[in-house]
Amino acid sequence: MRAISQNEFGGPEVLHEIDIPRPEPAPTEVLVRVVSAGINPVDAKTRAGGGMAGVLGQPPFVLDWDVSGVVEEVGFGVHTLKPGDEVYGMPWFPRQAGGFSEYVTAPSRHFALNPSTVDFDAAAAVPLAGLTAWQILHDAVHIKTGQRVLIHAAAGGVGHFAVQFAKVAGAHVTGTASAAKHDWLRDIGADQVIDYRSTRFEDVAGDQDIVVDLIGGENALRSIQVTKPGGIVVAVPGGVSADLAAAAEKRGVSAIPFLVEPDGHALTEIAALIDAGKVQVEVEQVFLFSEIAAAHQRQESGRAQGKLVVRVAP
Ligand SMILES: NC(=O)c1ccc[n+]([C@@H]2O[C@H](COP(=O)([O-])OP(=O)(O)OC[C@H]3O[C@@H](n4cnc5c(N)ncnc54)[C@H](OP(=O)(O)O)[C@@H]3O)[C@@H](O)[C@H]2O)c1
Repeated sequence: MRAISQNEFGGPEVLHEIDIPRPEPAPTEVLVRVVSAGINPVDAKTRAGGGMAGVLGQPPFVLDWDVSGVVEEVGFGVHTLKPGDEVYGMPWFPRQAGGFSEYVTAPSRHFALNPSTVDFDAAAAVPLAGLTAWQILHDAVHIKTGQRVLIHAAAGGVGHFAVQFAKVAGAHVTGTASAAKHDWLRDIGADQVIDYRSTRFEDVAGDQDIVVDLIGGENALRSIQVTKPGGIVVAVPGGVSADLAAAAEKRGVSAIPFLVEPDGHALTEIAALIDAGKVQVEVEQVFLFSEIAAAHQRQESGRAQGKLVVRVAP
């Protein structure tokens, strides 16, 4: 089968197509024919030697964790999926999943049935970013109706899901983004939008119960000042530095790190929200398998609106 691999850490140019044997599903696993694969910042970071490179080890390896496709075979013990089912998932994260391949095998419970109202490209855009937003809001901070939530990088992959999940949960949602994306963010549910390029968010968005910081560094530190005592700042990229922990303690705020994990049950709940029309999946661009380097370049620009996807099936 065709796959995209790399023999060394480096820029997008290290990515190249290879031919490798098709994997076999072990007991409790499914073999999925991949139709589309979503791209995330962790792909570009890992390709360059950061991200999950510490887990994957030295190249060669096959990147990508976001897949949608069709179940081709099921291993012994699989009762919830069958051949022909259309599924999506974020298998094996943070270990190697090899989403940039024509087939992947993974535990059946790492997948869920695709939302029935969107195509494979949009389904592949959901798992990693959607699960990140879902698990932060529901598992890490236990969001409640009426809370005030500030989401930094609201227009990105994780951010646009976080805005919508927080709205569904009944929160008051503020998002930071450049001005061109404000109308769209209001359309998907943001109550307040802040152009971080012209306005300091501290000047217009105080008293937050929850801040989801998808930027890191100084931005996380500044976020402490707009969080109520007793509130929570989720420091997603970079985690909690000593400076951040000290500033949080001084203000009586919790600063917590976060790492997403595979979760078929949450994907079933997310699919139901998409099919009910309560959550939209924004796909900025779909790339061909041969355009993988361009897809990584766009990801690394840090400017994508919603998600980027690669069509793996011919
Ligand atoms: N720990 C985990 O489990 C986990 C999981 C998922 C993601 N992450 C990390 O979380 C971060 C976000 O991921 P993502 O997939 O959402 O990224 P993404 O889709 O690449 O984010 C792109 C968006 O970021 C916005 N942006 C850039 N700089 C900004 C700033 N200073 N203020 C506000 N918005 C800004 C851009 O909007 P403009 O063009 O308008 O600036 C763009 O729409 C990445 O660092 C990623 O590695 C961590």
